[in-house]
Amino acid sequence: MLWTRKHLLTIEELSPEEITHIIDTAASFKEVSTRTIKKVPALRGKTVVSLFMEPSTRTRVSFELAAKRLSADTLSITAQASSITKGETLKDTARNIEAMNADFVVLRHSAAGSPRFLAERLNASIVNAGDGAHEHPTQALLDIFTIREKLGRISGLNVLILGDILFSRVARSNIWALTKLGANVTLCGPTTLVPDIFKELGVKITTNLDDALREADVINLLRIQHERQRKSFFPNIGEYKLMFGLSNERFLMTRPEVLIMHPGPINRGVEIASEVADCPRSVILEQVTNGLAVRMAVLFLLNGVQPVATET
Ligand code: CP
Repeated sequence: MLWTRKHLLTIEELSPEEITHIIDTAASFKEVSTRTIKKVPALRGKTVVSLFMEPSTRTRVSFELAAKRLSADTLSITAQASSITKGETLKDTARNIEAMNADFVVLRHSAAGSPRFLAERLNASIVNAGDGAHEHPTQALLDIFTIREKLGRISGLNVLILGDILFSRVARSNIWALTKLGANVTLCGPTTLVPDIFKELGVKITTNLDDALREADVINLLRIQHERQRKSFFPNIGEYKLMFGLSNERFLMTRPEVLIMHPGPINRGVEIASEVADCPRSVILEQVTNGLAVRMAVLFLLNGVQPVATET
């Protein structure tokens, strides 16, 4: 297919064909990271700026590495090390970055909609690296990539998303991507964190965790997003672990071929037992590896077909 988008803002707005095209492109980029010289010239002469206004390990490092593997110039700005601490607005910060001819701005921000805000005001391509509790498109894409790589398909699979759904941008992007590609998505967690409104997105909500674990082909665990919760949504961490944690005992109920996924950072001993996080069915670190290929694909596709200047 011909890629026409300049920005990656949400999974909601992508068609199933666009999602599949990104995953297919990522599959070809995965091989680059196995070469002795892990570099291709696709973005030579381009500048990719990572503007991270919230903490990140995986997403920030993998976007930066993806840009470097594509031969782009990269720079990384974090909230603490920027003039935002002196009162500069996001728009002014981004416009100053653009004044230095940045071609891409990869934005993580606590405000839902902030990537679209920049996309409507800047000439650079904007990539959403997580906006509040709204969306985290490249996380969903790397999750889809990993499931397809391991299980060969998405359509018809039973995917259980377990944990804090309400505050999770990963959950929202995964729900959009998985349902568009024909998976059966079930949500489970404390009722305060899994409101019925999510049914409107075409998912099932259950309080019967044991049945959901038995039926799942994929279990995607989410941590409690304490940083977004302004009140207590369950009595305490001990009770959460007892009711919803994927313990060694609960893991024994799952299918032998189940995939255990987690976007990270994991809280060992809370939403997942340490042994389960490190067991052979866990693909948590493979998700991280695949994130690099997916982010290379995203930057490559957004860059589009550029006219090559002829030297005189
Ligand atoms: N999955 C994820 O977004 O992790 P980071 O917050 O470390 O980027």
